[in-house]
Amino acid sequence: MKQPLLGFIGAGNMAGSLISGLVADGYPADRIWVSDINQDALEHLAAQCGVHATPRNAIVAEHAQVLILAVKPQILGGVVRELADIIQARQPLVVSIAAGITAGSIDAWAGGQVAIVRCMPNTPAMVKTGATGLYANARVGEEQRSQAEAILRAVGLTVWVHGEQQLDAVTALSGSGPAYFFLLMEAMEAAGVALGLDPDTARLLSQQTALGAGRIAIESTEAPAELRHRVTSPGGTTEQAIAVFESGGFRELVSQAMQAAARRAAELSEQLGH
Ligand SMILES: NC(=O)c1ccc[n+]([C@@H]2O[C@H](COP(=O)([O-])OP(=O)(O)OC[C@H]3O[C@@H](n4cnc5c(N)ncnc54)[C@H](OP(=O)(O)O)[C@@H]3O)[C@@H](O)[C@H]2O)c1
Repeated sequence: MKQPLLGFIGAGNMAGSLISGLVADGYPADRIWVSDINQDALEHLAAQCGVHATPRNAIVAEHAQVLILAVKPQILGGVVRELADIIQARQPLVVSIAAGITAGSIDAWAGGQVAIVRCMPNTPAMVKTGATGLYANARVGEEQRSQAEAILRAVGLTVWVHGEQQLDAVTALSGSGPAYFFLLMEAMEAAGVALGLDPDTARLLSQQTALGAGRIAIESTEAPAELRHRVTSPGGTTEQAIAVFESGGFRELVSQAMQAAARRAAELSEQLGH
């Protein structure tokens, strides 16, 4: 069976990563359409990936069996309302990657009764190591779920959530999560300099340590707690450091930070959905 015709509205960073990932994985470029008001972004993507490109969103919507909404959340309502007649006539699967916009808002803008998968990707998608949470509304069939999943898998790992609210938790964990690791790296780098390392050396060591720890965590079947115990010898240096983290309330701080992120995600959904 032929792969579905994909239509991307928006040719920015995220759409570019998805399209280049799909084409690199063998998705036929002539089955991908993309539109953008930014002529440079459009031409760049068309030249790089060989996909069909047009400045008119309606042309993309008229071709798409799966319509991927990849514009900024603030302008999504206007874009979807303009395409509502075409969406109603063609009934594509609509896949939205816009942060914070609910499936209900998109459905209302598109005229109702639309099959929608809402996704929350993260920035490592740019280097094909993204983590994306997906939620499907009740109109999405099994085959459409597979289609949406295959698109997001082109840039990394995918997980389905069981209720749309869980996407706020996904936002707090993997959506905002890269910045938490950057903060830790930043702090480790500064502390390394304070201990006498030169800044370049401290940065290199912190980067490589983050990469190494991430790879061990992914490649091992053990939980992070067990991996940590294994590198924490009784009476050793790591034990001293972990004791300081624990007594300073590190876990509680992470929990509070993620609750704040999830609350903000819910507030933004509320504000943007009108
Ligand atoms: N980047 C991430 O890591 C990330 C993570 C999670 C979710 N997302 C979501 O992904 C979506 C896209 O993000 P992005 O980072 O790829 O944004 P981006 O790079 O700004 O891409 C959006 C593109 O849409 C174009 N555009 C603006 N108005 C348009 C219209 N009316 N019709 C067609 N195209 C239009 C923009 O052109 P101009 O530049 O001329 O405005 C831009 O080229 C957002 O909704 C964001 O919430 C992104």
